[in-house]
Amino acid sequence: MSNKNIDKYINKIINGNCIEEMEKMPEESVDLIFADPPYFMQTDGILHRTDGTKFAGVEDSWDKFEDYVEYDKFTTEWLKECKRVMKKDASIWVIGSFQNIYRLGYIMQNMGFWILNDVIWSKPNAVPNFGGTRFQNSHETLLWCTKSKNAKYTFNYKTMKFLNNDKQEKSVWNIGICIGNERLKDEEGNKVHSTQKPEKLLYNVIISSSKPGDLVLDPFFGTGTTGAVAKATGRNYVGFEMNENYIKHAQKRLDKIEPIIDDISGLKLEVKPPKVPMTKLIEFNYIHPGQKLYNKDKSREVVITANGYVNDGEEDLSIHKMSAKLLGITNNNGWDYFWVENNNKELVTLDSLRYKYQEEVKL
Ligand SMILES: C[S@@+](CC[C@H](N)C(=O)[O-])C[C@H]1O[C@@H](n2cnc3c(N)ncnc32)[C@H](O)[C@@H]1O
Repeated sequence: MSNKNIDKYINKIINGNCIEEMEKMPEESVDLIFADPPYFMQTDGILHRTDGTKFAGVEDSWDKFEDYVEYDKFTTEWLKECKRVMKKDASIWVIGSFQNIYRLGYIMQNMGFWILNDVIWSKPNAVPNFGGTRFQNSHETLLWCTKSKNAKYTFNYKTMKFLNNDKQEKSVWNIGICIGNERLKDEEGNKVHSTQKPEKLLYNVIISSSKPGDLVLDPFFGTGTTGAVAKATGRNYVGFEMNENYIKHAQKRLDKIEPIIDDISGLKLEVKPPKVPMTKLIEFNYIHPGQKLYNKDKSREVVITANGYVNDGEEDLSIHKMSAKLLGITNNNGWDYFWVENNNKELVTLDSLRYKYQEEVKL
């Protein structure tokens, strides 16, 4: 093993050019990347609000490039290093706006990255188009990609569904831009960074596509939003940033955070249910042949047969096929559909019995 040890990068902010610094890292060492690169906005002149006051947009030197040739070269170089340090099944999120996202997507596809989704970050409180010369630009785009088409990437589907009021999460996320207490301010009360991202955006990224203990890399760390959310949710981080002032504020921010591994960040919902056949529940007296199973409101009932099937008066079927039949659909999960009376005559889900079995019998 070379001296390119990963340990020295864990939970550190590295001051320097991310391309040169990532070159020093061991290959296939990170689980997730979030990259918020310079957008090459090409804004010139000062923006004024309708009341005449000045608006501080992105005028930073780090966002300046000679032309698209230079920008594309820079993009290709940092993406090449990202790809090298990503584990085989890692994934990467890149964020951009109309100025750069098409270039990023084109370059990434040419480099062999596989796009899983393009997510729209829709901003309910976006900056207005002060001059009324175009539509208000109220979204940014995130590309979520793997290194190759066959990567077995992490996607915490059930957790994201739970966070979305039990509906499948969509590729449009409504999240306000970073304001108020979340926005880092310097000693004079000015914002530290022109493009600090909201923590909720990083929360969605990190919770959906990483596990506790994973290493999350951000090549353009800025104020450390990625590190802050990674730390808060029990992941590790490594950030690269050229600007020492941003690093100073990011470090202060990170030092204040205590990780909390709750059911969401700990991915409790993603744990696969125990594999328990109905016959085992019969054998160990959790249910018995002839006993009734119901749907939740008890408007339908079936009877358990000796071989672990259920009968609706017409035929014997598995709990899955029977629940689908009763619902008039093709497939359904019978464990979630059926309820059963326990010894205290309370209705409990059939599903809860297989967890009980696993706890009590199959330790
Ligand atoms: C769009 S901002 C990222 C903001 C960050 N996501 C946040 O929430 O604060 C891009 C950052 O990349 C940094 N940067 C630009 N080029 C860089 C490079 N080659 N290596 C390291 N950092 C760089 C800039 O200083 C800037 O802070």
